[in-house]
Amino acid sequence: MNTEYYKSMSKKALEKEKIDLQIKYDAYKAQGLNLNMSRGKPGPEQLELSMPMMDVLNSKSDYNAEAGDDCRNYGVVDGLPEMRQFFGSMLGVDADDVIVGGNSSLNMMFDTVSSGMYRGFGGCKPWAEQGTVKFLCPCPGYDRHFGVTEFFGIEMVIVPMTEHGPDMDVVEQLVNTDASIKGIWCVPKYSNPQGITYSDETVRRFAALKPAAKDFKIFWDNAYCVHNITDTPDQLLNLMEECKKQGNEDLPIIFASTSKITFPGAGVAAMAGSKNTLENIRKRLSFQTIGPDKINQLRHLRFLKDMEGVEKLMNQHKELLQPKFNIVLDTMKKQLAPVGVASWTNPHGGYFISVDVMEGCAKRIVELCKEAGVTLTDAGATYPYGKDPKDCNIRIAPSFPSVQELQEAMNVFCIAAKLAALEVLLKNEI
Ligand SMILES: Cc1ncc(COP(=O)(O)O)c(C=O)c1O
Repeated sequence: MNTEYYKSMSKKALEKEKIDLQIKYDAYKAQGLNLNMSRGKPGPEQLELSMPMMDVLNSKSDYNAEAGDDCRNYGVVDGLPEMRQFFGSMLGVDADDVIVGGNSSLNMMFDTVSSGMYRGFGGCKPWAEQGTVKFLCPCPGYDRHFGVTEFFGIEMVIVPMTEHGPDMDVVEQLVNTDASIKGIWCVPKYSNPQGITYSDETVRRFAALKPAAKDFKIFWDNAYCVHNITDTPDQLLNLMEECKKQGNEDLPIIFASTSKITFPGAGVAAMAGSKNTLENIRKRLSFQTIGPDKINQLRHLRFLKDMEGVEKLMNQHKELLQPKFNIVLDTMKKQLAPVGVASWTNPHGGYFISVDVMEGCAKRIVELCKEAGVTLTDAGATYPYGKDPKDCNIRIAPSFPSVQELQEAMNVFCIAAKLAALEVLLKNEI
């Protein structure tokens, strides 16, 4: 990040710049705005795209799945075979290696960590009986992943992200030598929040890990596997195939859902893994449920049909999301690039843009935005325990506000970013 523009200015000029910005900021504040760029929620117009799904089933419909199972009744714990096939195609794994769950993949991740804690993996003692256990957390990352590990008292170790994914030198060094490391959180495609897709080399290095812990697992959260927002989508190498080549198929546990394809909170989630991994999960499931919501599975299958259907729908999402991402990027390019107080990612998909502001400014910017009626994700949220060591990362979620609201919100954000930078520069000057 180049802060030379402000740094080359005299103290007097900086003070003048700050006064001008403060006037603009106060004018926005006086408008009583109420805008939210905090969570990666689809906008209402995106939700409209899936409303026809609510008409594919009614009281006259046939509720039998392909194998004749009555979806209105208990059973079929692994999910309908055709839904397992659907997720198998989406994730690039065999349908037999998929378990379809309820409405949330995060829920399945929570339950899987819980299995590790209280039942154990790979014939090892449960993590809860092994003393201090740790998860690697590529940062910036997804706050709710960190929330799950924090809930179970698992120690979190920060691994820096690079433009190719997590720093694999660090990952290999830690995983291959420290048996207290039991897992790593990964969002391999269009990562939350940077929108980075792991390179082929990164995926191959994951597949070739030689963990010191026999019960180490890669939590491969492929939440954004079909969520392109440009016409130049990223390609992610198939981790399970690479793991099989290395005899490491028990390493990954893969997750995904239709939350941001159809309806968040009313979608269908799934997980995939090796025979051994799924056997372990099935043992827990046999106590946990008498079967998932197959009516929702049927509704999704009849609406989306197959990967072609998904692609068609996701192209419509793309048309709605692309202009919103462009507003965020264009506004920062116009207002922040010339003064060099921030740098940001330019993702080809996913739901977020990650902004790195001047060190020590992120909290202040979020606070300034909040006071002017613009809610951002809390500063620090992209790091374990909500603590960003440099206080510099902010996650922008452009999907929910309307195009007009987003423009206003970004104007406020850019003013706040400049104001906070000037506050720091002037303070250091004194
Ligand atoms: C990386 C990631 N994983 C999982 C989720 C939540 O998925 P689900 O709705 O399937 O629980 C989100 C939601 O923002 C996410 O960003």
